[in-house]
Amino acid sequence: MKINLKESKIESIETELLIIGTYENDVGTAKKIDEKTGNEITKSMKKKEFNGEYGQIKIINTAGKIKAKNILVLGLGKKENVTVMILKKAIGIGSRIARDILGAKEFTTTLHSNETKEKNSLAEKIQAVTEGILLGNYQFLKYKTQGLDKIKKLNEAIIVVDKKEKEYEKAVEKGKIIAESTIFVRDLVNEPGSELTPEVFAKIAEKEAKKYGIKITVLNKKEIEKKKLYGLLAVSRGSINDPRFLILEYKGNSKKSLALVGKGVTFDSGGLDLKSAKGMETMKGDMGGAATTLGAIIAAARLKLPVHIYGVIGLTENMPGRNAYKPGDVVKTYNGKTIEVLNTDAEGRVTLADSLTYAEKNLKPDVIIDLATLTGACVVALGSVAAAVVGDEKIVDKLKEASKTSGEKIWELPLWQEYLDQVKSDIADVRNIGLYAGEAGTITAAAFLKNFIDKTPWAHIDIAGTAFTNEEKELTKKGGTGWGINLLTSFLEKWK
Ligand code: BES
Ligand code: ZN
Ligand code: ZN
Repeated sequence: MKINLKESKIESIETELLIIGTYENDVGTAKKIDEKTGNEITKSMKKKEFNGEYGQIKIINTAGKIKAKNILVLGLGKKENVTVMILKKAIGIGSRIARDILGAKEFTTTLHSNETKEKNSLAEKIQAVTEGILLGNYQFLKYKTQGLDKIKKLNEAIIVVDKKEKEYEKAVEKGKIIAESTIFVRDLVNEPGSELTPEVFAKIAEKEAKKYGIKITVLNKKEIEKKKLYGLLAVSRGSINDPRFLILEYKGNSKKSLALVGKGVTFDSGGLDLKSAKGMETMKGDMGGAATTLGAIIAAARLKLPVHIYGVIGLTENMPGRNAYKPGDVVKTYNGKTIEVLNTDAEGRVTLADSLTYAEKNLKPDVIIDLATLTGACVVALGSVAAAVVGDEKIVDKLKEASKTSGEKIWELPLWQEYLDQVKSDIADVRNIGLYAGEAGTITAAAFLKNFIDKTPWAHIDIAGTAFTNEEKELTKKGGTGWGINLLTSFLEKWK
């Protein structure tokens, strides 16, 4: 879908559909349009039919009073509460209505002209609206063969400005890159496990890296064995699909470097500690951390951010094959520490142990951030509203800052000594589950990971609840959400 800027006055725009916003009981920037089209908005506000509450909509047929054929009015809520996130979500709703209910092929919008609480610049609002249009429109149709004729598509959205400035064009481009990277992650998460094996994921990563000038090294099983990445190998032993290990590098202009490390379990059956049928339903998405790592590096490269980023991704399936690793096994990891495997379903951390050490020892980054769909406990604690973050204050604080601007919520959990004690093993160095079953699962998983970080400032983001959703919202469909691309790009923009 194309998104274009157009220099024009709203009343003289020729379009199938004009999408505008009003505040609660206040027509706001829609005043001129309202006057020119018979004051329908004001009238319906007086009659209390449509009062501009967030989520309310009103459709007006202009009957030739202006050049736009129809108007879709979106309620934005109380003027003092409008944020860029509200604009983004509102246009998400708007473009879905335009496409699915009104059957429009194109629309024009001025939603970005509304004032926001944080007094955002027009460029920031244009970026948010661009993202909202593209994300709201997302659908995963690859495996549909029936009813395709009924599926509607938008071809173009036009964002109207009084004057076309270079900075507005840049804002559209930036919004596009962020949304496309998010969609890239969604597509990967939505792929079935049998399609997106470690090998296929690696091939996609190679293709994308080439496209955007990102350096990539792909290790196959033999090379992984040679490097002694035994954590990754242990998890992959039950599967007939071989593991892969990826190292990516985008070198923007910066003295400092950062490593993103992603959990890449392309399907998590639980292994011998087999999951329930219900528990396995969404486990094709257990590579969400890996997809976000790749997506964030692509976004950084496309945005030409002045940052030096590495990506480290261990890819494997977790299956109960005849050679599968077993509860009670002891695995020697890349840094020499031993893991007592007490539950084969706590596999992500076993693979991450190697990836984290690999990143720290070989790439020597200034900061490490890992992303992983790591624990069911995180879903229990925060649902799909926020991701959990654990780690060093310096980075966690910066992530929290970035979270405010990006709108992707994170919530910090503590990593006190008591928790570190709970992952000490009787017979090995660490155990892969906490001592007390069902207690502090997200923190003990992070405590486990901490054992594989020596001295580099580190933060762990558990995206188990945010990477995948069963709910359709303004900007997401059921399935992969692409959560994290917004957070990471705003973190990287500010990171020095
Ligand atoms: N991939 C799962 C975590 C998960 C659960 C992600 C639900 C998304 C939604 C992970 O590998 C896992 O199975 N963790 C176990 C750990 C337990 C055995 C200590 C869990 O959370 O149950
Ligand atoms: Zn698992
Ligand atoms: Zn898993």
